[in-house]
Amino acid sequence: MHHDEAGTGTPLLLIHGFPHDRTLWAPQLAGLADAARVIAPDLRGFGAWADDRPVCTMEDHARDLCDLLDALHIEQAVIAGLSMGGYVALAFLAAFPERVRGLVLCSTRAGADTEEGRKGRQATADRVLREGTAGLAEELAPKMFSAATRAARPGLIADMRTMIARQRPAAVAAAALGMARRTDRRPMLPGIRVPTLVLTGDADEMIPDTESRAMAAAVPGSRLVVVPGAGHLVGLETPEAFDRAVRSFLEQV
Ligand code: MLT
Repeated sequence: MHHDEAGTGTPLLLIHGFPHDRTLWAPQLAGLADAARVIAPDLRGFGAWADDRPVCTMEDHARDLCDLLDALHIEQAVIAGLSMGGYVALAFLAAFPERVRGLVLCSTRAGADTEEGRKGRQATADRVLREGTAGLAEELAPKMFSAATRAARPGLIADMRTMIARQRPAAVAAAALGMARRTDRRPMLPGIRVPTLVLTGDADEMIPDTESRAMAAAVPGSRLVVVPGAGHLVGLETPEAFDRAVRSFLEQV
């Protein structure tokens, strides 16, 4: 499992979303290295990890991440996931609760896909296997930022398009089909006993901030941070706000 790492102290495992790779977290490797041991891996199939399994579930990704912690001799980490990474973080907590020092759920949701959502995942998988990832990149990249950022910082959208377009179609399909099969984690939220930060932007066009508000309301003692004006990729779009929220959370865990 390829990963980037910076800093020392509390391990902070940053899990990228769909269909990203570990470079999503470049701002945090620079910005949080003085506050934590920041670890940003590629999920199976993405970035530098070539893998051809046809379906990759959130539990598969969680197991891979646990193997990574083992390999790094890390007993416990703060598990932080963005969007699909948040689905993986909840799967990780369900499977390996003793390895979780704290939880950061960013721009994500706890529920499973609807029937319509599952059909959309299948269509995405079929499409990338048929035509590659360029078209998906064209479509998804702009939606991952706020309208203001789209207008003011086109370079950020272009970089995201490039990141998505370079992912392997097989991995994108496997992750889409894995997300379609994911478990509804809402029932576990009231039982979460680790410090939890729920973080989102109020201009997220992929997953509305109502999802984060509902998760924060359900997890006892959790902290909610809604970044004004930020879209889906809060850590990339507004790294100062993301890092500030995580830094202050790390002081609590
Ligand atoms: C992501 O950014 O990981 C996706 O928006 C997650 C999803 O499609 O549900």
